[in-house]
Amino acid sequence: MKKGLRLFSMLFVAIMTVLLISACSSGGEVSVGIVLPTKDEPRWVQDEERFKEALEDSDYTTEILFSQGSSAKEKENIETLINKGIDVLIVAPHDAGAAGAGVELAKEEGITVISYDRLITDTDAVDYYVTFDSIAVGEAQGQYLIDNAEGTGNPLYLYAGAASDNNAFLFFEGAWNVLQPKIADGTFVIANSSEAEALQDKAELTRDELGKILGQVTTEWDPNEAKNKAQTHLTAVGADLKGDVSILAPNDGTARSIADVFASDGEVTNYVVTGQDAEKASIQYVIDGKQSMTVFKDVRTLVEDAMGMAVDVLDGDTPETTGSYDNGSIDVKAKQTDVIVVDQENVQSELIDSGYYEADEFEGLD
Ligand code: GAL
Repeated sequence: MKKGLRLFSMLFVAIMTVLLISACSSGGEVSVGIVLPTKDEPRWVQDEERFKEALEDSDYTTEILFSQGSSAKEKENIETLINKGIDVLIVAPHDAGAAGAGVELAKEEGITVISYDRLITDTDAVDYYVTFDSIAVGEAQGQYLIDNAEGTGNPLYLYAGAASDNNAFLFFEGAWNVLQPKIADGTFVIANSSEAEALQDKAELTRDELGKILGQVTTEWDPNEAKNKAQTHLTAVGADLKGDVSILAPNDGTARSIADVFASDGEVTNYVVTGQDAEKASIQYVIDGKQSMTVFKDVRTLVEDAMGMAVDVLDGDTPETTGSYDNGSIDVKAKQTDVIVVDQENVQSELIDSGYYEADEFEGLD
């Protein structure tokens, strides 16, 4: 009798499990959809990995899709996720403005939209924004160049991200906040941008003015474009703008290719170059003395914040925010995370001892 009961209850559980699985797979199976800009940049592959780690024990089902640098693909991805019944959509847009069309479709379906790392602009279809302090990223890069420059007349090479990314403006604005007074007092001489030179006496730049400089020194976030620009710039200048130079590079991918170009110029005796993202390849560059610094943005925190918000929404709670960002259409409630400067001095403590990376992923760490 006891045996029969056990058999019955085992059968019951098995049947219920099958029913549950089939209910899950017939519509409504994905609760949170995540769309990231491209797999071609390690930064976003990092985010994918960290999302997967964070979701290992989650009760909610999620799906991550990449847009491969295409706004059309991004919209298609959003449509795919809408059709899978998502309740929350997390998007790091490829192009801030173009992403509006996709998230508006989601909004029409009552889906909560979270802008991830990059702000989606000029639409009211964004509910929340999780981000790092991007002005602080630029300020940290600029300050590093200041702290490592000696005397006056130091040639300063400026590079920026893609103008389709709102962050590129914020990074440059932050850098300009600290660099401009040091250009005005003669510490630095702008080497590669006539637009920046024309504006060098202005402490605060308008979006249009920033756009003019970005138009000249953008890397499009593309290491090849960064390399081509750096080569063109070094070919155009005379020996007076070489020697010991300072380079504002917006992120790690572009920093490595710009650094390689400057390193191979016989008239450049020393260069200080910034970066951002703590990509593994750049951590090796920092250890090897080929890249001076990177701004470490702990993606684990961003993922935690985004998923925390998503779960709050799914549970019917209101996510906690700490401020807001004007996206050109509305003020988007935001949660912001701080950043950390990493160079040879603290690479071990910040990235290895903290468990972010494993020591054996690098060579030459002491
Ligand atoms: C920015 C992002 C950076 C960097 C860059 C290029 O929006 O905040 O971390 O990766 O895009 O993808």
